[in-house]
Amino acid sequence: PGQANPSFSLDHFILIAHRGASFHAPEHTMEAYQLAETLAADFIEIDLQMTRDGVLVAMHDDKVDRTTNGKGLVSSYTLDELKELDAGSWFNKKYPKEASDSYVGAKVPTLEEIFQRFGNRVNYYIETKAQDNSGMEDKLLHLLNKYNLIGSRGNVVIQSFSKQSLLKIHETHPNLPLVQLVHPDEVSTLSDEKLEEMKSYSVGIGINYNELNKHLIKKIKAKNLFIHTYTVNDRDDFDRLKEWGVNGVFTDIVNLGRS
Ligand code: G3P
Ligand code: CA
Repeated sequence: PGQANPSFSLDHFILIAHRGASFHAPEHTMEAYQLAETLAADFIEIDLQMTRDGVLVAMHDDKVDRTTNGKGLVSSYTLDELKELDAGSWFNKKYPKEASDSYVGAKVPTLEEIFQRFGNRVNYYIETKAQDNSGMEDKLLHLLNKYNLIGSRGNVVIQSFSKQSLLKIHETHPNLPLVQLVHPDEVSTLSDEKLEEMKSYSVGIGINYNELNKHLIKKIKAKNLFIHTYTVNDRDDFDRLKEWGVNGVFTDIVNLGRS
């Protein structure tokens, strides 16, 4: 499993299991997270959505349509209703080569269930896909505190495309490592000034790998900001980006750098 206390330094490289080991198992299911732990990813990545009754669950889209047999917004489902859905069969249909009977009927996990299962054996890289003022940040911080994941071990990173979401967390937990995700169409606006501003609340930035080049990587690292790049599923891209000095990659294929 991942290092208990990953030392963030500018020459350290981490491999982040994007949505779990989501090439080989249905994304955001316990099966995908378990495989990521088994394959010793440095971090497991969890996107957060919230149910109608206010429970944080692991899901990328704001709708359940793509990754379950249901329809509609996650926020229109209670947790009980969401638990009725099958979050695995779509994967078997879409990726027959990776299909497994064990994925049929997989449930959407809550963040709490993930913490209960993996505790501090793994490192968590959590994304708030927050709608403004949803209260997602408070619920996340509550669970991190409840499972003793803040502070001593340093095994949690919070990421978001929303600066507002990150600032909410930074206000009360200034030592929790935050990563500002940058949309591809905003990469050209990354001036020195903007990077300084990001540095005031985050330890690093997350950028789509197609937007990166040697010069930009150097510029960002010169500000003492880490660069974690998404989503790298090709071995040549992986090797090139590592060679260029990124500090980590999000990948669906946890074995990518080892094959
Ligand atoms: O968090 C990095 C990457 O996961 C951002 O893109 O759409 O996969 O959440 P997305
Ligand atoms: Ca994500």
